[in-house]
Amino acid sequence: MPEKKNFCRIAQNLPPNVGAEILRYGWRKPDILSLGQGEGNAPTPDFIMDGAVEALRAGKTHYGPVLGQPVLREALSSYYEQVFNFDIPANRLFVTGSGTTAMHLALTSILEKGDEVVAVTPIWKNLLGAVELAEARIVQVPLDFGEEESGSQKGWSLDLERLLAAVTDKTKALLIVTPSNPTGWMMSEEEMRHVLDFARARGIWIISDEVYSRTAYGLSHAPSFLGVAQADDLLITVNSFSKSWAMTGWRLGWLVGPAAAEEIIRDIALYDNMGPPTFTQFGAVKALEDGEDFIAQQMVGWEANRDYMMERLGAHPKITMVAPSATFYAFFKVEGEPDCLTFAKRLIDEQSLSLAPGCAFGAGAKGWMRLCFAVSRPRLEEALDRLERAL
Ligand SMILES: Cc1ncc(COP(=O)(O)O)c(C=O)c1O
Repeated sequence: MPEKKNFCRIAQNLPPNVGAEILRYGWRKPDILSLGQGEGNAPTPDFIMDGAVEALRAGKTHYGPVLGQPVLREALSSYYEQVFNFDIPANRLFVTGSGTTAMHLALTSILEKGDEVVAVTPIWKNLLGAVELAEARIVQVPLDFGEEESGSQKGWSLDLERLLAAVTDKTKALLIVTPSNPTGWMMSEEEMRHVLDFARARGIWIISDEVYSRTAYGLSHAPSFLGVAQADDLLITVNSFSKSWAMTGWRLGWLVGPAAAEEIIRDIALYDNMGPPTFTQFGAVKALEDGEDFIAQQMVGWEANRDYMMERLGAHPKITMVAPSATFYAFFKVEGEPDCLTFAKRLIDEQSLSLAPGCAFGAGAKGWMRLCFAVSRPRLEEALDRLERAL
């Protein structure tokens, strides 16, 4: 067995990913019920699969352009026009082999060793991997949780002054996930304008992960930095087909950057994996062209699950939480369980229920737990039964 010491220092010293460890811990049990991962249990709809299968049969099995098939880049441009009313030409849209890869490319294209990235947390930890690999430093600015019904707002909010005060002359970028995994918090358009004005004045990047932009309850989409920015702003948005089109296993995402990013991202992606798979992109074209009914129908199911979960979990005397305004996550704190890692392991050991521990999401989330409710009602009921037994 080769020893770890033979590998590079950065790889040896990557901080452990607690969320992934807990998932692995749960998968050892054959009867595990896992709501710890961020995906629904619905399969990809047929009309999307047909697009990919037809492409396979038509011989779309060769290398393709590194930044994606032109037809998909054009379809993304039309999608932004039709759903968001944004004018984003195809030369600002770069297709990637997942949202995670999109984030990796975005950060790799801007970070130098020693740079700082100011990130709003709690945050999906995997997004910070590229910061760590680049030997840049993450500065976490946690959201606040207001417990009061009146007075200060109940639920998650961002102290903008604190965010901006965390910026130093070493800061290269602000990293914001909105809507947020795991809290469901969304940044308002007004807050986005404020942050953008500040970033412009300081000449720093905004990296905005908008993977959950189509999961905002009661809205066709969440506010987007693309709606307040100019085409040449230092802004990169990260997106994915995973969540809203039920395509997690397809590993397909995209980036929107300034046109000047096109060659930079292309050249890094060339050395990464030479671009996304070819035939899957034709499924993604169908997703964009014909996916609106599916998205709407999926939101109806998730909203019903959210309400059901709030009736049960939200009403439990030991639980503190608010209904998320977006995403499909319940993020909650349990009275008497200050250590979320111990609690996550106990749930697996005693109830065969796997949930994500809050400490996997960085500062501000210790003692919290995340449950993904994008599942069938019987599965959700069973998970809540097991959780209530443990409480
Ligand atoms: C905020 C956020 N960004 C990106 C991703 C990754 O998406 P993908 O499946 O496209 O890699 C996730 C997945 O959970 C996520 O929560």
